[in-house]
Amino acid sequence: MARFKVLMFESMHEQGTKLLEEKCDLEYATSLEQEYLVEAIKDKDAVVIRANGAVTRRMIEAAPKLKVIGRHGVGVDAIDLVAAAARSIPVVNTPEANNVSVGEGFFALALALAKRIKHADAAVRAGDWAFRSRTRTISLSDKVLGIYGFGKIGQIIGRMGRAGFGMRIVYADAVPHEAAERELNATRLSPEELFRRADFISINLPLLPSTKKVVDARLINLMQPTAFLVNMARGPVWDEAHVYAALKEKRIAGAGTDVFDPEPPSKDNPLLSMETFLCTPHNSAHTEEGMINMSMVAADVLAVLEGRKPAYPVALPV
Ligand SMILES: NC(=O)c1ccc[n+]([C@@H]2O[C@H](COP(=O)([O-])OP(=O)(O)OC[C@H]3O[C@@H](n4cnc5c(N)ncnc54)[C@H](O)[C@@H]3O)[C@@H](O)[C@H]2O)c1
Repeated sequence: MARFKVLMFESMHEQGTKLLEEKCDLEYATSLEQEYLVEAIKDKDAVVIRANGAVTRRMIEAAPKLKVIGRHGVGVDAIDLVAAAARSIPVVNTPEANNVSVGEGFFALALALAKRIKHADAAVRAGDWAFRSRTRTISLSDKVLGIYGFGKIGQIIGRMGRAGFGMRIVYADAVPHEAAERELNATRLSPEELFRRADFISINLPLLPSTKKVVDARLINLMQPTAFLVNMARGPVWDEAHVYAALKEKRIAGAGTDVFDPEPPSKDNPLLSMETFLCTPHNSAHTEEGMINMSMVAADVLAVLEGRKPAYPVALPV
């Protein structure tokens, strides 16, 4: 049987790569420029895109054999879905691949902030053993965990908080999530009430026009001075300037983030000067396990190529 030809924008974990290589010849893009890609895709049966580059209408129209577009990851904004739909080319992605890793990323930041891990480690290295007597840290157990955006990741964080630390779960969301409420004994609150009550807040909203800077001065000013705020969603969802102001004026105990606006943050971003701020470079999803899971976009690409139903088809515009 003839082998399929696949254009890979970037390399991915060897587990997914091996799966594809069994039945496909992989060609790795040497550039993500349009002119190059329009040529490279011409004879391909499939294309796999990661976080960089785009699959445009021009590319889709230039590829008469194209049967499937795979996205290693979740967001499909870099794929022209209208053009794909016009040719009935399925788009597949890996929506569940990273959720647990992002959930763990929240607790990594929340625990490190509450336990002052960065400062404790620096103190020991500097011979400052007295740090242990001078410094009080905070426990997560029995605290109120407020989750703003109680979707897939928000609920995983709720589950981890409740099962791991006996945290009391409250959430704010545009829609009620009744099954998760029952499972986690969670209470739905208004965003205002959540910011007033929670000891730890996890932001897990999608970035939409309606969520841009939705975590603003008004909400942050409602927080308790002992509370921590962590953004695991997207940089523009919170107002960085107000997070900085709240930290500077010690109106909240600390803040953490995996995401910035823009990314990467500029070196003089004032948040980076704050002792009570902790961050990661949008890599909470980049665990070994998450990378394996994302590379399994290979299974769905193969499914479409071999005429089977993919597990994670993206809804195409009508
Ligand atoms: N840090 C990372 O590496 C990383 C990785 C994956 C996802 N994310 C981010 O996490 C977000 C959440 O992911 P998910 O899979 O849980 O999404 P999801 O769609 O399952 O959940 C989002 C929730 O937010 C709610 N919501 C939407 N708009 C709202 C609004 N205006 N007010 C209140 N609630 C609103 C929805 O009802 C839904 O319950 C993603 O959109 C993405 O931005 C970050």
